Amino acid sequence: MSAERFEKKKTIDLRKKHIGPSCKIFFSHDPIKIVQAKGQYMYDEKGQRYLDCINNVAHVGHCHPDVVKAGAQQMELLNTNSRFLHDNLVLYAQRLQATLPDKLSVCYFVNSGSEANDLALRLAWQYTGNKDIITLDNAYHGHVSSLIDISPYKFHQSSDAEQNQYVHVAPSPDVYRGKYRGEHLDPATAYADEVKDMVQRVHKKGGKIAAFIAESLQSCGGQVIPPQGYFQQVAQHVREAGGIFIADEVQVGFGRVGTHFWAFQLQGEDFVPDIVTMGKPIGNGHPMSCVVTTKEVAEAFMSSGMEYFNTFGGNPVSCAIGMAVLDVIVKEDLQGNALRVGRYLTNLLEKQKEKHPLVGDIRGRGLFVGLELVKDRLKLTPATAEAQEVIYRLKEQYILLSADGPHRNVLKFKPPMCFTTEDADLVVDKIDHVLTELEEALGLKSHNALSVENESSKRKLPTDENGPQYHSGLAHNRGSSQEVPQQTNQTPQDITLPTNSQSCDMILSFT
Ligand SMILES: Cc1ncc(COP(=O)(O)O)c(C=O)c1O
Repeated sequence: MSAERFEKKKTIDLRKKHIGPSCKIFFSHDPIKIVQAKGQYMYDEKGQRYLDCINNVAHVGHCHPDVVKAGAQQMELLNTNSRFLHDNLVLYAQRLQATLPDKLSVCYFVNSGSEANDLALRLAWQYTGNKDIITLDNAYHGHVSSLIDISPYKFHQSSDAEQNQYVHVAPSPDVYRGKYRGEHLDPATAYADEVKDMVQRVHKKGGKIAAFIAESLQSCGGQVIPPQGYFQQVAQHVREAGGIFIADEVQVGFGRVGTHFWAFQLQGEDFVPDIVTMGKPIGNGHPMSCVVTTKEVAEAFMSSGMEYFNTFGGNPVSCAIGMAVLDVIVKEDLQGNALRVGRYLTNLLEKQKEKHPLVGDIRGRGLFVGLELVKDRLKLTPATAEAQEVIYRLKEQYILLSADGPHRNVLKFKPPMCFTTEDADLVVDKIDHVLTELEEALGLKSHNALSVENESSKRKLPTDENGPQYHSGLAHNRGSSQEVPQQTNQTPQDITLPTNSQSCDMILSFT
């Protein structure tokens, strides 16, 4: 049977008619119809192959046969809710627990990242008896009401959205573009002190902190890597105030960062969150997710007297799939692959930074890498339209990449973990060509060459025993955000880009 039921045009028409218009489509003026996928490749209705650099959901590779088989075999036997005893549920909980610090021992299985984070908030509210939540600027934690409230990435998009009075937004610990930058002597403490001050302001107003929530590495927020030691200090301030720490690993967990299985572990062994939420890669495309917490938090949740029931969470099929994903990560050494290929990719991109003034910063851990484009390395003017142009031009060459961050100028790599060094060579080579053409068209080279920093000023964040946290950009406005331009979601009037980006719809982020 053909994987395509309708001609592409008809699919588009039916989608326009029956699917809510706020469900945006990637490349809306010429959308891609994908009918099949395998490994790190996706195929359109004509059999054209695309290299996938963005689908972190297909963690162990699209349609991995072991995962498909595990799901199908269990589906043939039984699928039902977790009110019946089933070994898959407890086995899987045990397997997940084995990847985490001992203290994080109690699982709640749910169906999406949003459900996981919503439940995490409920746990925090119940355990602490407090209400106020601290979130990071540019954060995205999910699409349900409680999470839109704590997702500045979303609520900043709507002119009607009002910030919930219990929600407090701390600066994103972005050492390239944020409030405290690379030249700051101790950005971890500076950013954590912002949280401390925020706690005090909340107390002054009579509020009480229930939780601080953050992605272990901010993804939609622009591939931000918090300085080491930041989470420990934040956790201390928040716990002293009676709150708990929620680490959102929905995007970045399951070995993606290479050196560790969980991205929060990059902060050091002395940091353990009170709740970890998981999603996306957990089921390699099967809709499932999980909240893991401590016995104390779980018991407090129980003490409310309300049963927690979830029709699909923790069903035998999802658990079988989850276990198969864990097996493949080990069997194919995908965490090791993320480390090796991630380093290779980062090195290639670093060479692009030496060559192209448009490249402001390269940052990444494992196969979670960001390339931030700027029009001026001193002012950090976001090269938003240029980033969109790169994405469009890569798409024309059958490579899927996305641009994200508050200015949508960060090229975001988070491919399936079977990504290879050849894939890295291919995508970087194409980026190189596009950047060369863009710079020629914009006359940027000669202009920016004056402000391109000397290579000796290249900065690395503190090194841990597992290797450096890679971050190449150099910030020039020490401790000040005064000159950071505000969000620029439009092609500037004074430049003419070569081809696509003037019709760009800016819907190129791929959460
Ligand atoms: C960090 C983070 N948390 C939570 C979510 C919500 O997950 P879902 O879309 O599965 O509800 C997302 C989705 O993009 C995410 O990026």
